[in-house]
Amino acid sequence: MARILITSALPYINGVKHLGNLAGSMLPADVYARFQRLMGHEVLYVCATDEHGTPAELAAADAGMDVRAYCDAQHEIQKTAGAGFGLSYDVFGRTSNAPNIELTQHFASVLEEKGLIEERVEHQVFSIDDDRFLPDRYVEGTCPHCGFERARGDQCDNCGRLLEPTDLKEPYSKISGSKNLEVRETKHLHLLQTKVEEDIRAWVDASTEWPVLAKSIAYKWLDEGLRDRSITRDLKWGVPVTQGDAPRDGFENKVFYVWFDAPIGYIGATREWATATGGDWERWWDTDKGAQDVTYVQFMGKDNVAFHTVSFPATIIGSGESWKKVDKLKAFNWLTWYGGKFSTSEKRGVFMDQALDLLPGDYWRWYLTANAPEGSDAQFTWEHFQGVINSDLANVLGNFVNRITKYANSKFDGQVPATGEAGADEAWIAAELEARLPAIKANLEAMEFRKAAADVRAVWAAGNEYLTRAEPWVKYKSDVDAAAVGVRTGLNLVALFGILAQPFIPDTADTILDALNIPDDKRSWDFGENAADLLDALPHGHAVTPPAMLFKKIEDADLEAWAERFGGSA
Ligand code: 2FM
Ligand code: ZN
Repeated sequence: MARILITSALPYINGVKHLGNLAGSMLPADVYARFQRLMGHEVLYVCATDEHGTPAELAAADAGMDVRAYCDAQHEIQKTAGAGFGLSYDVFGRTSNAPNIELTQHFASVLEEKGLIEERVEHQVFSIDDDRFLPDRYVEGTCPHCGFERARGDQCDNCGRLLEPTDLKEPYSKISGSKNLEVRETKHLHLLQTKVEEDIRAWVDASTEWPVLAKSIAYKWLDEGLRDRSITRDLKWGVPVTQGDAPRDGFENKVFYVWFDAPIGYIGATREWATATGGDWERWWDTDKGAQDVTYVQFMGKDNVAFHTVSFPATIIGSGESWKKVDKLKAFNWLTWYGGKFSTSEKRGVFMDQALDLLPGDYWRWYLTANAPEGSDAQFTWEHFQGVINSDLANVLGNFVNRITKYANSKFDGQVPATGEAGADEAWIAAELEARLPAIKANLEAMEFRKAAADVRAVWAAGNEYLTRAEPWVKYKSDVDAAAVGVRTGLNLVALFGILAQPFIPDTADTILDALNIPDDKRSWDFGENAADLLDALPHGHAVTPPAMLFKKIEDADLEAWAERFGGSA
């Protein structure tokens, strides 16, 4: 049994996340966590809300709320939405909670002892009309590299280059639009990334298990050369900058930069888990205390990769302490909305809470996993969503389960028939399973989610093909035993489909497995490769009940209503 630590990028607190955020971090992390648990491994899946920074301050101000009260409320909303999608976090913590604050201050002080932190006077953009220093993302202007006119002060969305706000041409305040800006002096702590650059490169070189997207992004950054980065900001809301137990001189009105404390939040949330459950957090994070045996897997969108392959490693490698570092890093491209960006203000796209008003979580889980933005960006369109749900879930899976359980109920007293001998049709489906089942495990292990979902769908489709060949309803008229084999095999396929569905559509999987009275200890993925056994695994005479209809089809009228409400084709 392996021990697997899983984290998904921590969602910002400022508002419920859209389906693209779900598809590119939390959902695949959950599918992977469920898969590894089913394989019998010990899994800790950690997530939290990322609560600091200007976006949180501004969103709270917009909502007319105190920022802490705003974060409290939003944390609960995001937690509820996550539960609606069946996200099986072991903990959903908060970066504003005490463990993360303590850890962030701890890292800063250790880094300073190692000579990796320096106070430097910076020149920063101050907005006279807003009466505040503008954080990087709140200065916009023209990118000096590519000329893009709405580049943010931290990064250009057009060419992807990292920027400093003072690099921008024609800068303006994103808060007020004011161009009445000036550069003022302000003192900040800088993390001397240049001093750990070689250590980070050596670690990236040695990290052989990162999928290609993550690795290529890491090298792009290393090859450009790391810069020393300021890790504090002129803000009120955030982790206070301390020296020993006291506020640091000259930093009373400053806090740590949100990207400094957010990844530390993975550890902070694990400490929250330990406090809540009596678990041992060091066993997951300290390589002198058990974490040397942990495989650590991170999930995130591609815009987060640099922070996880360079900035966060600079913190933990720089500390010289025995922290667990990531082993496998799965990065995602974007889910687009009809090829464009999701946008709340322009009424384009569906947010997690709204999606659950339309349909249960499993519909979205399936669609977003089967069409994960993995190798490239993936487009969400209502039409595609309707096609996938109606075909994969309603027709291929739902009808199969419904048809064979109902038939068993009406013709075989709701029991797994005992008579009849397997023949050519059963040999055919056995061969199909033997060819396909290993691929499902292999693709999930490799975090190839689209392929894994396609494999599962292919197994479901093969089940349908089997019933078309075996035709128990036709055979029943002349040879009840021959029909019995078909029904027995069909019911075993239903059980197998339920077992396979668990990582992807867990609620539906439970419904199927409950209807088949499959005990909890028979739901794991320790099935052998011998398909003939799998097709005759249920005890003869075992009672089954048809489940309620598993999926309802999405009608054209639904589509029209949803497109009207959430936007559709441009
Ligand atoms: O991009 C984002 O949504 C960030 N809130 C991700 C943070 S990941 C981790 F480092 F906290
Ligand atoms: Zn640019």
